[in-house]
Amino acid sequence: MTSNQGLGITQGNLKTNQDILVLGIETSCDETAASVVRNGREILSNSVYSQIALHTVYGGVVPEIASRAHVEKIDIVVQQALKQADKSLTDVDAIAVTYGPGLVGALLVGVSYAKALAFSLRKPLVAVNHIEGHICANYLTYKELNPPGLCLVVSGGHSHLISVSEQDEYHLIGCTQDDAAGEAFDKAARVLGLPYPGGPALDKLAETGDDAALLLPKPKTQGRYDYSFSGLKTAFINALHNMNQQGKTYQPQDMAASFRKAVVDSLVEKTLLAAKETGAKRIMLAGGVSANRLLRRRMEEECRQANISLYMPDLSLCGDNAAMIAAAGYRQYMKGHTADLHLNAVPALRLV
Ligand code: KG4
Ligand code: ZN
Repeated sequence: MTSNQGLGITQGNLKTNQDILVLGIETSCDETAASVVRNGREILSNSVYSQIALHTVYGGVVPEIASRAHVEKIDIVVQQALKQADKSLTDVDAIAVTYGPGLVGALLVGVSYAKALAFSLRKPLVAVNHIEGHICANYLTYKELNPPGLCLVVSGGHSHLISVSEQDEYHLIGCTQDDAAGEAFDKAARVLGLPYPGGPALDKLAETGDDAALLLPKPKTQGRYDYSFSGLKTAFINALHNMNQQGKTYQPQDMAASFRKAVVDSLVEKTLLAAKETGAKRIMLAGGVSANRLLRRRMEEECRQANISLYMPDLSLCGDNAAMIAAAGYRQYMKGHTADLHLNAVPALRLV
């Protein structure tokens, strides 16, 4: 299934022998981002305004605050991206925007802005699934990389194993039965008193800890390639609670390292199992959690041993950004997939 079913797709008049410039726009959560990408591979600019400072006091993203901040920043961020790329709006061939999944009020800011731009400039509009964007961050990092491959998508809302076909078709191989990996990291970090966003803070703390300090249960799942992090998270919270109640001391870095190891063990084990059993020769990582240091190290080790090629987005492209949206938008645009002005935000949009 492609990401733009039911959007009034039209076949665009494609330039074939020239560079194609796509302006990407991303406002699905707490980053207002715009980027200009050439031919789906070369980042000319990548402007990101992070709202972290606005949400930190609340310990998480407040949707209303996110929407308002997107409205305030979107124009500035787009102008910045054009300036950095040394391009004007008239140079752009298509405007790609994230239309889901994400927070509805946040998505609507980007979608409305992109529609207005496309209408006023008479440029094609391309609707991009945020998760497909994360996968396409790999094509920006590795200029020669093309699917097929097996992709582990690990973000705040997703822990999916997706098989990507040569034609960019996506098939679900496995997914989390409950919490996403990023969500689990964020919750564990909160219990350790780490600031939002917890995942990167827990990862950093874990680097100096003993990962054998706390024994955590191995997640049980129904499907061979599925994940489950809710039980792990509860076991972690209970263990800390019990130690606190019993007046036992522990080193936060040891707890962080033990939790990180348990999550990463599960992600690596299932991904490698699926790759071996499905015969995949390439593994790609995607999403915010693909910045996790241990996950990257372990994947490198295991893929080397299994003789599987590993692709991981550059650290600057793991979190939410608009270059990945422009890269995904380029691929859609080259297939003639454009959206009309009825495009709406789809908060629960699925890729598979
Ligand atoms: O892909 P992303 O930026 O946004 C979504 O689309 O959800 O992912 C954000 C998630 C958050 O849960 C964040 O804590 C987690 O990715 N994350 C990490 C790391 N960096 C970001 N989790 C573990 N280790 C990291 N280094
Ligand atoms: Zn994301």
